[in-house]
Amino acid sequence: MSQRMLRGMAAGLGALVSLGSMAGCGTDGQVQKVTSIKIGVTVYDQYDTFVSQMMTDFNEYAAEQEEQTGIAINVEVYNAAGSQSTQNSQVEEMLDAGCNVICVNLVDRTEPTTIIDMAEKNNVPVIFFNRELVEEDLERWDRVYYVGAKAFESGIMQGEIAADAFKENPDADKNGDGVFQYVVLEGEAGHQDAIVRTEYAVSTIIDNGVEVEKLAYGIANWNRAQAQTKMTQMLAEYDGEIELVIANNDDMALGAIDALKTSHLNRADRPGASDLSREEWPVVVGIDGTDVGLAAVASGEMVGTVYNDKEGQAQAMLDLAYALSVGDTLDDLNLENGKYIRLPYSKVGSRDVKNYMK
Ligand code: BGC
Repeated sequence: MSQRMLRGMAAGLGALVSLGSMAGCGTDGQVQKVTSIKIGVTVYDQYDTFVSQMMTDFNEYAAEQEEQTGIAINVEVYNAAGSQSTQNSQVEEMLDAGCNVICVNLVDRTEPTTIIDMAEKNNVPVIFFNRELVEEDLERWDRVYYVGAKAFESGIMQGEIAADAFKENPDADKNGDGVFQYVVLEGEAGHQDAIVRTEYAVSTIIDNGVEVEKLAYGIANWNRAQAQTKMTQMLAEYDGEIELVIANNDDMALGAIDALKTSHLNRADRPGASDLSREEWPVVVGIDGTDVGLAAVASGEMVGTVYNDKEGQAQAMLDLAYALSVGDTLDDLNLENGKYIRLPYSKVGSRDVKNYMK
Protein backbone atom coordinates (compact mmCIF):
# COMPACT_ATOMS: atom_id res chain seq x y z
CA MET A 1 0.00 0.00 0.00
CA SER A 2 1.41 3.42 -0.94
CA GLN A 3 2.31 6.10 1.62
CA ARG A 4 -0.33 8.35 0.16
CA MET A 5 -3.02 5.66 0.52
CA LEU A 6 -2.06 5.02 4.11
CA ARG A 7 -2.18 8.73 4.80
CA GLY A 8 -5.62 8.92 3.20
CA MET A 9 -6.96 6.08 5.32
CA ALA A 10 -5.58 7.61 8.49
CA ALA A 11 -7.09 10.95 7.56
CA GLY A 12 -10.48 9.34 6.92
CA LEU A 13 -10.40 7.77 10.32
CA GLY A 14 -9.47 11.13 11.83
CA ALA A 15 -12.54 12.70 10.23
CA LEU A 16 -14.80 10.19 11.93
CA VAL A 17 -13.21 10.45 15.34
CA SER A 18 -12.63 14.17 15.51
CA LEU A 19 -16.04 15.17 14.23
CA GLY A 20 -17.55 12.79 16.72
CA SER A 21 -15.77 14.67 19.45
CA MET A 22 -16.29 18.09 17.90
CA ALA A 23 -19.97 17.83 17.15
CA GLY A 24 -20.62 15.41 19.99
CA CYS A 25 -22.66 12.27 19.70
CA GLY A 26 -26.31 12.44 18.68
CA THR A 27 -28.97 11.70 21.32
CA ASP A 28 -29.03 8.11 20.08
CA GLY A 29 -25.27 7.87 20.70
CA GLN A 30 -24.40 7.82 16.95
CA VAL A 31 -21.12 9.42 15.87
CA GLN A 32 -21.76 11.95 13.12
CA LYS A 33 -19.54 11.40 10.09
CA VAL A 34 -18.47 13.97 7.50
CA THR A 35 -19.56 12.84 4.07
CA SER A 36 -18.35 15.74 1.96
CA ILE A 37 -16.13 18.80 2.10
CA LYS A 38 -15.77 21.84 -0.10
CA ILE A 39 -12.41 23.45 -0.86
CA GLY A 40 -12.38 26.83 -2.60
CA VAL A 41 -9.23 27.87 -4.44
CA THR A 42 -8.38 31.14 -6.17
CA VAL A 43 -5.22 31.57 -8.25
CA TYR A 44 -3.63 34.89 -9.25
CA ASP A 45 -3.41 33.85 -12.90
CA GLN A 46 -4.54 30.53 -14.28
CA TYR A 47 -2.10 30.83 -17.21
CA ASP A 48 0.97 30.88 -14.96
CA THR A 49 2.77 27.66 -15.92
CA PHE A 50 3.96 26.71 -12.43
CA VAL A 51 0.71 27.53 -10.66
CA SER A 52 -1.43 25.75 -13.24
CA GLN A 53 0.70 22.61 -13.01
CA MET A 54 0.45 22.76 -9.23
CA MET A 55 -3.35 22.98 -9.49
CA THR A 56 -3.45 19.96 -11.78
CA ASP A 57 -1.58 18.01 -9.11
CA PHE A 58 -3.86 19.36 -6.38
CA ASN A 59 -6.99 18.19 -8.21
CA GLU A 60 -5.43 14.80 -8.85
CA TYR A 61 -4.54 14.33 -5.17
CA ALA A 62 -8.00 15.48 -4.08
CA ALA A 63 -9.56 12.81 -6.31
CA GLU A 64 -7.24 10.17 -4.82
CA GLN A 65 -8.03 11.28 -1.28
CA GLU A 66 -11.74 11.12 -2.03
CA GLU A 67 -11.35 7.57 -3.27
CA GLN A 68 -9.37 6.51 -0.23
CA THR A 69 -11.53 8.14 2.44
CA GLY A 70 -14.97 7.88 0.87
CA ILE A 71 -15.48 11.55 1.70
CA ALA A 72 -16.55 13.60 -1.31
CA ILE A 73 -14.04 16.41 -1.91
CA ASN A 74 -15.38 19.23 -4.03
CA VAL A 75 -12.68 21.52 -5.30
CA GLU A 76 -13.76 24.79 -6.91
CA VAL A 77 -10.95 26.75 -8.63
CA TYR A 78 -11.32 30.44 -9.54
CA ASN A 79 -9.03 32.57 -11.69
CA ALA A 80 -8.44 36.06 -10.26
CA ALA A 81 -6.81 37.07 -13.56
CA GLY A 82 -4.44 39.52 -11.93
CA SER A 83 -7.03 41.53 -10.01
CA GLN A 84 -7.00 41.67 -6.20
CA SER A 85 -10.53 43.04 -6.04
CA THR A 86 -11.77 40.17 -8.24
CA GLN A 87 -10.01 37.76 -5.91
CA ASN A 88 -11.62 39.34 -2.85
CA SER A 89 -15.06 38.93 -4.43
CA GLN A 90 -14.27 35.32 -5.29
CA VAL A 91 -13.42 34.61 -1.66
CA GLU A 92 -16.69 36.20 -0.58
CA GLU A 93 -18.52 33.97 -3.04
CA MET A 94 -16.72 30.87 -1.77
CA LEU A 95 -17.59 31.74 1.82
CA ASP A 96 -21.24 32.25 0.85
CA ALA A 97 -21.17 28.90 -0.93
CA GLY A 98 -20.16 27.21 2.35
CA CYS A 99 -16.55 26.26 1.60
CA ASN A 100 -14.87 24.57 4.56
CA VAL A 101 -11.50 26.03 3.71
CA ILE A 102 -10.19 28.63 1.25
CA CYS A 103 -6.84 28.37 -0.56
CA VAL A 104 -5.52 31.66 -1.86
CA ASN A 105 -2.71 32.34 -4.33
CA LEU A 106 -2.69 36.08 -3.65
CA VAL A 107 -2.61 38.51 -6.52
CA ASP A 108 -1.01 41.19 -4.37
CA ARG A 109 0.91 39.66 -1.51
CA THR A 110 0.72 42.91 0.45
CA GLU A 111 -3.10 42.94 0.38
CA PRO A 112 -4.36 39.87 2.27
CA THR A 113 -6.31 41.74 4.98
CA THR A 114 -9.74 41.86 3.32
CA ILE A 115 -9.58 38.11 2.76
CA ILE A 116 -8.36 37.34 6.28
CA ASP A 117 -11.05 39.55 7.83
CA MET A 118 -13.84 37.94 5.80
CA ALA A 119 -12.60 34.44 6.61
CA GLU A 120 -12.31 35.22 10.31
CA LYS A 121 -15.84 36.60 10.40
CA ASN A 122 -17.07 33.32 8.89
CA ASN A 123 -14.63 31.22 10.91
CA VAL A 124 -13.31 29.53 7.76
CA PRO A 125 -9.55 28.81 7.72
CA VAL A 126 -7.39 30.21 4.91
CA ILE A 127 -4.31 28.63 3.34
CA PHE A 128 -2.23 31.07 1.33
CA PHE A 129 0.14 29.44 -1.12
CA ASN A 130 3.04 30.23 -3.47
CA ARG A 131 2.79 34.01 -3.05
CA GLU A 132 3.92 34.66 0.46
CA LEU A 133 2.39 37.30 2.68
CA VAL A 134 4.46 39.01 5.34
CA GLU A 135 4.62 37.39 8.74
CA GLU A 136 2.59 40.09 10.52
CA ASP A 137 -0.32 39.39 8.19
CA LEU A 138 -0.05 35.67 8.79
CA GLU A 139 -0.27 36.41 12.51
CA ARG A 140 -3.53 38.37 12.15
CA TRP A 141 -5.61 35.29 12.91
CA ASP A 142 -4.68 31.84 14.18
CA ARG A 143 -6.46 29.98 11.36
CA VAL A 144 -4.26 31.40 8.58
CA TYR A 145 -1.54 29.22 7.02
CA TYR A 146 1.08 29.32 4.27
CA VAL A 147 2.29 26.56 1.93
CA GLY A 148 5.29 27.24 -0.28
CA ALA A 149 9.06 26.91 -0.40
CA LYS A 150 12.17 28.66 0.87
CA ALA A 151 12.91 31.27 -1.76
CA PHE A 152 16.53 31.81 -0.72
CA GLU A 153 17.29 28.10 -1.15
CA SER A 154 16.35 28.23 -4.84
CA GLY A 155 18.63 31.22 -5.37
CA ILE A 156 21.55 29.44 -3.68
CA MET A 157 21.06 26.32 -5.79
CA GLN A 158 20.75 28.33 -8.99
CA GLY A 159 23.96 30.15 -8.12
CA GLU A 160 25.74 26.86 -7.53
CA ILE A 161 24.63 25.51 -10.91
CA ALA A 162 25.90 28.65 -12.63
CA ALA A 163 29.22 28.67 -10.74
CA ASP A 164 29.82 25.00 -11.58
CA ALA A 165 29.05 25.65 -15.24
CA PHE A 166 31.67 28.41 -15.29
CA LYS A 167 34.31 26.34 -13.53
CA GLU A 168 33.73 23.10 -15.39
CA ASN A 169 33.39 24.49 -18.87
CA PRO A 170 36.07 26.93 -20.10
CA ASP A 171 33.86 27.87 -23.07
CA ALA A 172 31.43 29.54 -20.68
CA ASP A 173 33.92 32.39 -20.31
CA LYS A 174 33.60 33.55 -23.90
CA ASN A 175 35.94 36.51 -23.80
CA GLY A 176 38.38 34.67 -21.54
CA ASP A 177 38.59 37.50 -18.98
CA GLY A 178 37.92 35.22 -15.99
CA VAL A 179 34.71 37.10 -15.20
CA PHE A 180 31.16 35.80 -15.73
CA GLN A 181 29.22 38.55 -17.55
CA TYR A 182 25.53 38.09 -16.76
CA VAL A 183 22.02 39.39 -17.30
CA VAL A 184 19.01 38.75 -15.06
CA LEU A 185 15.38 38.15 -16.00
CA GLU A 186 13.28 38.93 -12.96
CA GLY A 187 9.80 37.94 -11.90
CA GLU A 188 7.20 40.44 -10.70
CA ALA A 189 8.60 43.34 -8.72
CA GLY A 190 7.66 42.76 -5.10
CA HIS A 191 7.23 38.97 -5.34
CA GLN A 192 9.24 37.25 -2.58
CA ASP A 193 10.74 34.76 -5.03
CA ALA A 194 11.94 37.40 -7.47
CA ILE A 195 13.76 39.56 -4.94
CA VAL A 196 15.30 36.75 -2.95
CA ARG A 197 16.24 34.46 -5.84
CA THR A 198 18.23 37.11 -7.68
CA GLU A 199 20.06 38.21 -4.57
CA TYR A 200 21.06 34.71 -3.48
CA ALA A 201 21.91 33.44 -6.96
CA VAL A 202 24.42 36.23 -7.55
CA SER A 203 25.94 36.13 -4.06
CA THR A 204 26.33 32.35 -4.29
CA ILE A 205 28.21 32.54 -7.59
CA ILE A 206 30.61 35.00 -5.94
CA ASP A 207 30.87 32.87 -2.78
CA ASN A 208 31.89 29.99 -5.03
CA GLY A 209 34.90 31.95 -6.19
CA VAL A 210 33.60 33.20 -9.55
CA GLU A 211 33.87 36.88 -10.32
CA VAL A 212 30.79 38.36 -11.96
CA GLU A 213 29.81 41.47 -13.88
CA LYS A 214 26.20 42.48 -14.30
CA LEU A 215 25.46 43.74 -17.79
CA ALA A 216 21.71 44.30 -17.56
CA TYR A 217 18.46 43.14 -16.05
CA GLY A 218 14.84 43.12 -17.13
CA ILE A 219 11.58 42.52 -15.30
CA ALA A 220 9.55 39.99 -17.25
CA ASN A 221 6.87 39.09 -14.65
CA TRP A 222 7.45 35.30 -14.81
CA ASN A 223 6.31 35.43 -18.42
CA ARG A 224 7.94 33.77 -21.41
CA ALA A 225 6.88 36.26 -24.07
CA GLN A 226 7.94 39.24 -21.95
CA ALA A 227 11.28 37.56 -21.28
CA GLN A 228 11.82 37.00 -24.98
CA THR A 229 11.26 40.70 -25.63
CA LYS A 230 13.64 41.75 -22.85
CA MET A 231 16.29 39.27 -23.93
CA THR A 232 16.03 40.42 -27.53
CA GLN A 233 16.71 43.97 -26.34
CA MET A 234 19.63 42.83 -24.20
CA LEU A 235 21.08 40.85 -27.09
CA ALA A 236 20.81 43.91 -29.31
CA GLU A 237 22.79 45.88 -26.75
CA TYR A 238 25.30 43.32 -25.57
CA ASP A 239 25.28 40.79 -28.38
CA GLY A 240 28.02 38.20 -27.79
CA GLU A 241 29.07 39.66 -24.44
CA ILE A 242 26.38 37.85 -22.42
CA GLU A 243 27.87 34.72 -20.84
CA LEU A 244 25.14 33.88 -18.35
CA VAL A 245 21.38 34.35 -18.19
CA ILE A 246 19.93 34.08 -14.67
CA ALA A 247 16.16 33.70 -14.93
CA ASN A 248 13.96 33.73 -11.81
CA ASN A 249 11.85 30.96 -13.35
CA ASP A 250 11.87 28.46 -16.22
CA ASP A 251 9.30 30.30 -18.31
CA MET A 252 11.55 33.35 -18.47
CA ALA A 253 14.60 31.16 -19.18
CA LEU A 254 12.63 29.72 -22.08
CA GLY A 255 11.77 33.22 -23.27
CA ALA A 256 15.51 33.97 -23.30
CA ILE A 257 16.09 30.80 -25.30
CA ASP A 258 13.38 31.85 -27.77
CA ALA A 259 15.30 35.10 -28.25
CA LEU A 260 18.60 33.25 -28.62
CA LYS A 261 17.12 31.01 -31.28
CA THR A 262 15.98 34.01 -33.24
CA SER A 263 19.38 35.65 -32.86
CA HIS A 264 21.00 32.45 -34.05
CA LEU A 265 19.04 32.55 -37.30
CA ASN A 266 19.75 36.22 -37.88
CA ARG A 267 23.42 35.78 -37.32
CA ALA A 268 23.73 32.78 -39.56
CA ASP A 269 21.81 34.66 -42.23
CA ARG A 270 24.05 37.70 -42.09
CA PRO A 271 26.66 37.60 -44.83
CA GLY A 272 30.04 36.79 -43.46
CA ALA A 273 28.77 35.99 -39.96
CA SER A 274 29.89 32.76 -38.43
CA ASP A 275 27.26 30.16 -37.67
CA LEU A 276 26.29 30.54 -33.99
CA SER A 277 26.52 27.07 -32.58
CA ARG A 278 24.75 26.12 -29.34
CA GLU A 279 28.07 26.20 -27.53
CA GLU A 280 28.29 29.90 -28.26
CA TRP A 281 25.10 30.53 -26.37
CA PRO A 282 25.33 31.89 -22.87
CA VAL A 283 24.75 29.55 -19.96
CA VAL A 284 21.02 29.73 -19.18
CA VAL A 285 19.72 28.74 -15.74
CA GLY A 286 16.11 28.64 -14.56
CA ILE A 287 14.03 27.66 -11.54
CA ASP A 288 10.89 25.46 -11.29
CA GLY A 289 11.39 22.28 -13.28
CA THR A 290 8.12 22.71 -15.11
CA ASP A 291 7.56 20.16 -17.89
CA VAL A 292 8.83 22.61 -20.52
CA GLY A 293 11.74 23.64 -18.30
CA LEU A 294 12.86 20.05 -17.79
CA ALA A 295 12.60 19.40 -21.53
CA ALA A 296 14.95 22.37 -22.13
CA VAL A 297 17.47 20.94 -19.64
CA ALA A 298 17.22 17.54 -21.32
CA SER A 299 17.88 19.08 -24.73
CA GLY A 300 20.85 21.07 -23.39
CA GLU A 301 19.35 24.49 -24.20
CA MET A 302 19.22 25.21 -20.50
CA VAL A 303 22.22 24.17 -18.39
CA GLY A 304 20.11 23.49 -15.32
CA THR A 305 17.12 24.37 -13.24
CA VAL A 306 16.06 24.17 -9.60
CA TYR A 307 13.11 21.95 -8.87
CA ASN A 308 10.26 23.80 -7.18
CA ASP A 309 8.37 20.85 -5.73
CA LYS A 310 4.87 21.50 -7.02
CA GLU A 311 3.78 17.94 -6.24
CA GLY A 312 4.97 18.28 -2.65
CA GLN A 313 3.32 21.67 -2.26
CA ALA A 314 0.04 20.45 -3.79
CA GLN A 315 0.03 17.41 -1.52
CA ALA A 316 0.83 19.48 1.57
CA MET A 317 -1.91 21.95 0.73
CA LEU A 318 -4.40 19.15 0.23
CA ASP A 319 -3.45 17.42 3.47
CA LEU A 320 -3.79 20.69 5.36
CA ALA A 321 -7.06 21.68 3.66
CA TYR A 322 -8.49 18.25 4.34
CA ALA A 323 -7.45 18.19 8.00
CA LEU A 324 -8.86 21.68 8.56
CA SER A 325 -12.12 20.81 6.81
CA VAL A 326 -12.83 17.67 8.78
CA GLY A 327 -11.49 19.03 12.07
CA ASP A 328 -8.61 16.59 12.11
CA THR A 329 -5.38 17.13 14.05
CA LEU A 330 -2.57 19.02 12.30
CA ASP A 331 0.09 17.25 14.37
CA ASP A 332 1.32 14.99 11.57
CA LEU A 333 1.77 17.87 9.16
CA ASN A 334 4.83 19.32 10.91
CA LEU A 335 3.83 22.95 10.57
CA GLU A 336 6.64 25.41 11.24
CA ASN A 337 5.49 27.79 13.98
CA GLY A 338 2.09 26.17 13.63
CA LYS A 339 1.53 28.06 10.37
CA TYR A 340 4.02 27.28 7.60
CA ILE A 341 4.72 24.31 5.36
CA ARG A 342 7.76 24.86 3.16
CA LEU A 343 8.97 22.20 0.76
CA PRO A 344 12.67 21.95 -0.14
CA TYR A 345 14.07 22.64 -3.63
CA SER A 346 16.57 20.46 -5.48
CA LYS A 347 19.08 21.03 -8.28
CA VAL A 348 18.44 19.54 -11.72
CA GLY A 349 21.16 19.19 -14.33
CA SER A 350 21.54 17.25 -17.56
CA ARG A 351 22.70 14.16 -15.67
CA ASP A 352 19.64 13.75 -13.46
CA VAL A 353 16.91 15.51 -15.43
CA LYS A 354 15.43 12.16 -16.53
CA ASN A 355 14.55 11.37 -12.90
CA TYR A 356 12.32 14.43 -12.79
CA MET A 357 10.54 13.97 -16.12
CA LYS A 358 7.17 12.26 -16.00
C1 BGC B 1 7.40 30.27 -9.53
C2 BGC B 1 7.07 31.01 -10.80
C3 BGC B 1 5.65 31.48 -10.73
C4 BGC B 1 5.41 32.31 -9.49
C5 BGC B 1 3.97 32.72 -9.37
C6 BGC B 1 7.13 31.16 -8.36
O1 BGC B 1 7.38 30.46 -7.17
O2 BGC B 1 8.75 29.91 -9.54
O3 BGC B 1 7.22 30.19 -11.92
O4 BGC B 1 5.36 32.24 -11.89
O5 BGC B 1 5.79 31.58 -8.36
O6 BGC B 1 3.67 33.31 -8.16
